Amino acid sequence: MNDSPLHQFGLQLLQSHKIDFKKNDKAFVDHFFAHIDEIEFLFNQIYGGHSKRNEAFEALLNALILFYQQRTAIFKKKDTAKVKKQNWFLSNEITGMSLYVDRFSGNLKGLQEKLPYFKELGVNFLHLMPLFESPDGESDGGYAVSNFRKIDARFGSNEDLYDLIQEMNQQDMYVMLDIVYNHTSHHHEWAQKAKAGDAYYQDFFYCYDTQDIPNQFDQNMPEIFPESSPGNFTYIPECKKWVMTVFHQYQWDLNYSNPSVFVAMLDHVLHYANLGVDILRIDAPAFIWKQMGTSCQNLPQAHTLLRLLKQCVLVASPGMALLGEAIVSPNEIIKYFGTDEAIAKECDVAYNATQMALQWDALATGDTRVMLAAQHPIMQKPFGCTWLSYTRCHDDIGLGYDDEMIERAGFNAYQHRTYLKNYFAGWQEGSPAAGALFSVNPKTGDARISGSLASLCGLEKAIEWKSEIEIEHALKKIILMQAMTLFIGGIPMLFYGDELAYTNDYSYLQEAGKSYDNRWMHRPIIDWNKNEKRNEVGSYENTIFTATKKMIALRKSLAILSDLKNTNWMPPHNIHIAGFVRTLENKKLYCVFNYKNSASFLTWYAFKEQGERPSVLHDHWTGQNFKVGNDHEHFVLAPYSFAILETIK
Ligand code: GLC
Repeated sequence: MNDSPLHQFGLQLLQSHKIDFKKNDKAFVDHFFAHIDEIEFLFNQIYGGHSKRNEAFEALLNALILFYQQRTAIFKKKDTAKVKKQNWFLSNEITGMSLYVDRFSGNLKGLQEKLPYFKELGVNFLHLMPLFESPDGESDGGYAVSNFRKIDARFGSNEDLYDLIQEMNQQDMYVMLDIVYNHTSHHHEWAQKAKAGDAYYQDFFYCYDTQDIPNQFDQNMPEIFPESSPGNFTYIPECKKWVMTVFHQYQWDLNYSNPSVFVAMLDHVLHYANLGVDILRIDAPAFIWKQMGTSCQNLPQAHTLLRLLKQCVLVASPGMALLGEAIVSPNEIIKYFGTDEAIAKECDVAYNATQMALQWDALATGDTRVMLAAQHPIMQKPFGCTWLSYTRCHDDIGLGYDDEMIERAGFNAYQHRTYLKNYFAGWQEGSPAAGALFSVNPKTGDARISGSLASLCGLEKAIEWKSEIEIEHALKKIILMQAMTLFIGGIPMLFYGDELAYTNDYSYLQEAGKSYDNRWMHRPIIDWNKNEKRNEVGSYENTIFTATKKMIALRKSLAILSDLKNTNWMPPHNIHIAGFVRTLENKKLYCVFNYKNSASFLTWYAFKEQGERPSVLHDHWTGQNFKVGNDHEHFVLAPYSFAILETIK
């Protein structure tokens, strides 16, 4: 603390809230004064000239104090432990699963009963897909929130969530919830008031009297759901305004140029922190700042706002990490960890959407060259931050890497992308994949891919074809894809159902609120009788469940798999094999993956050019030991297989 007017003002606020400077609240006071200058600096960058600046800034500081005061002793204790441990989320001991509570277990109470299932598998971190009130039929899977504080009745009650989180805490499990930060449902109170003509709340959104400004915006803004929700604005007859709706027409974009919006959403963020959230998933952060003449994505002000949010969280709930769900191009994703003087001071975690898509690229082509050519931006991740590593999630797969990366690998980008889309849509001759194209934009030729892990890996068609070899390959592909995700570094986040090889579910086509969105094909309704099959040796469910469990256990047993910025790609020796080396002190772990449908060979030299010349390698996956041969001799990887090799001599 110093004598500056800001610190004196802060001191007054703390005193008015009866903060205990000496004992109980000492750590909080330290955090408060350690971050307040940065908070003011960032706040002024965005809102310095705004007429509501002073009022909003005071409200922000009050929110930090109040939410800290309301935080329970358990979570304050957890904060202290996490701060002491530093970057707790880098640990190899965390494995997550993302799930829809209703589709997985009916409701929150049901989920609590299923906690032993996660223990059996080794999952100790749950991403619960959006739980807050969201209108049926206009919900976008919960990403159109009409009440940020009330659990939607279909999942249970606020108390049920409270009980679940307490229980998870007892069991040393972590939890992630979403804050749908960019937009609200048009049924949210703010939108309702705006519709009714309340100017204060119209200013919470982007509302225009005529279509002139919307048309100008539209010239540079891409469409997110061109098929189901074309354009970026919707005419609202009640208030006779054009409102910005970048995602669906029922999702109204929040106007963060209004400081009251930032403060109101901060309130929700801190409320979620106090529910006991360990990682908060900030939905669609790339979109939170709009500026005419730009794509309205990834703008510098969006980053400033995220940094400001991070600083606020560091004061009020320092144990809660932030995940930025920025599914954008590789060179843009990396910026969500912070840049320049703010490096490692923005989001703690970001989706490794580039690597995820690259794995699908390698699987379809049997060639890992694009994966290697695209690593440069991924490798820029700062120390202390981590990736959320995943093979599938509730969303589509976007081939978000740059054409130039494909071309550097020696392919024509247009033809390569066309091949991938045809392959996963199942149109390519001989393709075993059963997926579908999502959000096809005839104007740009863009399309993304829907489909479950198992169906995209070929299991659905292989069963239909009654082909033993295709079934075997499909199962191996599922395991290969998950292995890379689990061993590459970052928090692995499985998607529910994938641990049991669920194929696509086409029942969404019969539901009016879902049939327009084929992402529902890979959001299964769990059949617990089918899940029992995980115990039937020889079943697909058993094969995949056992392998997934074994990989998770292996990851947990090897500290070298923590994300200490200790992943380096091996130079290419065989285009079908991707390999990286994980290091820790003087240890090395070689992780090699064969994306080809036949055996692939790697010269032993590949293991010798890393600064050590091992003589015996132990494969943690199969348990086999390999005597390292001469440089020109080979280590052989079977079709779609991998090895996790540690030097033992
Ligand atoms: C995020 C979600 C996606 C949703 C979109 C709009 O990208 O992951 O499911 O449709 O935001 O909220």
